[in-house]
Amino acid sequence: MTRTIKFGVIGCGLMGREFASTAARWLHLENTKARPEIIAVCDTNTGLMDWFSDNVPSVAQKTTDYKALLANTDVDAIYCALPHVLHDQVYPEILEAGKHLLGEKPFGMDRAANHRIQAALDSHPELFVRCSSEMPFFPGAQKVIDLVRSGGLGDIIEVEAAFLHSSDLNPDKAINWKRMVEVNGAYGCMGDLGMHVLHVPLRLGWKPRHVSAALVNRFRERPDGNGNLVPCDTWDNATITGHVDDAAGGFPLVMKTWRIAPGESNTWSLRVLGTRKSAYFTTKNPRQWQWMSYEGGKQIWQVEDLGFDTLFPTITGNIFEFGFPDALQQMWAAFLDELSGGDANGFHCVTPAEAADHHAILTAAQKAGTEHSVVVVDYRSDT
Ligand SMILES: NC(=O)c1ccc[n+]([C@@H]2O[C@H](COP(=O)([O-])OP(=O)(O)OC[C@H]3O[C@@H](n4cnc5c(N)ncnc54)[C@H](O)[C@@H]3O)[C@@H](O)[C@H]2O)c1
Repeated sequence: MTRTIKFGVIGCGLMGREFASTAARWLHLENTKARPEIIAVCDTNTGLMDWFSDNVPSVAQKTTDYKALLANTDVDAIYCALPHVLHDQVYPEILEAGKHLLGEKPFGMDRAANHRIQAALDSHPELFVRCSSEMPFFPGAQKVIDLVRSGGLGDIIEVEAAFLHSSDLNPDKAINWKRMVEVNGAYGCMGDLGMHVLHVPLRLGWKPRHVSAALVNRFRERPDGNGNLVPCDTWDNATITGHVDDAAGGFPLVMKTWRIAPGESNTWSLRVLGTRKSAYFTTKNPRQWQWMSYEGGKQIWQVEDLGFDTLFPTITGNIFEFGFPDALQQMWAAFLDELSGGDANGFHCVTPAEAADHHAILTAAQKAGTEHSVVVVDYRSDT
């Protein structure tokens, strides 16, 4: 029988509502071990909570105080989607309250904050905790991952993972918390987008030994929405080049987290180039993936239409297109499956250890980019 996990949502903004939509159409998924039911919501903006009570009939508690939500003994698990500066304050309290957690990335505004979260996790090994990152659940991304796992790539020439936005190309776009160092963190775009580009490389064991980084702050002021221009100190774009060791002498892992990529709208891509096999997927072309096999002779990329070929089976016919809300639902299916004793069908959500490694890489990239140097990544958890 499908178990019901009762959820509290802390942070009812952009991502909080996406989870509500995912939970509301859980009937899309077939044969799941568990289903989410949102029974409590918390946000300091009461209007956002009204959206939940208007649209989610199971919501019984609305509160502006997350401590009141955590005191609700009916709540089994929390989805926490708060600004980065609050992660290391709220995630440990969630664990202290005995709730399982899917926490939004970057899992702490910086490495010190991530360590504070990790310390709380160490005290609660009985709780199930994962970090959000949904883009690798696109079927095309899974095809690239499967190809790498099946081996036979030959020597890897290069891996490039990118997440590209473009709305910051508009200098009149008003500043928000993701463009403020004190709320978003000094990583800037890397903190916001870094987990998206690192989820798959870390899962495949590609941990760069050292990194260099080109960091760009193109617009240093932005309107505040009240007719003033205010400083905008966060990095807009980061191009991080890591060196991953392997038996063939290593390869570059290029990670692009760009907020100013002209024309791009939430484009996530992954390209793996090997001497025998290569593969590529981009959400710009969400139903297709590309690959090439080379055994001498012609070099021909092949393209396959995938449709709804998902990790977790759904009722949707596989001739239809897959999109962002579907990736999010697949990620939630992985979370609930693992929470209920499953193996997430072979591709689980980001673990706290992976989130910690991503902080090690971003901290090194921040140093490399500001000092114009090459920085060795220190993966030890106590630094
Ligand atoms: N997985 C993804 O694709 C993805 C996409 C966007 C954002 N995110 C992450 O989600 C998190 C939230 O981002 P968002 O875009 O939803 O932001 P948002 O600003 O839309 O939502 C954050 C919400 O938190 C509320 N809030 C702030 N302080 C609070 C407090 N003390 N108590 C209760 N509520 C409070 C705000 O009122 C707001 O509604 C961030 O960690 C971000 O990195 C993830």
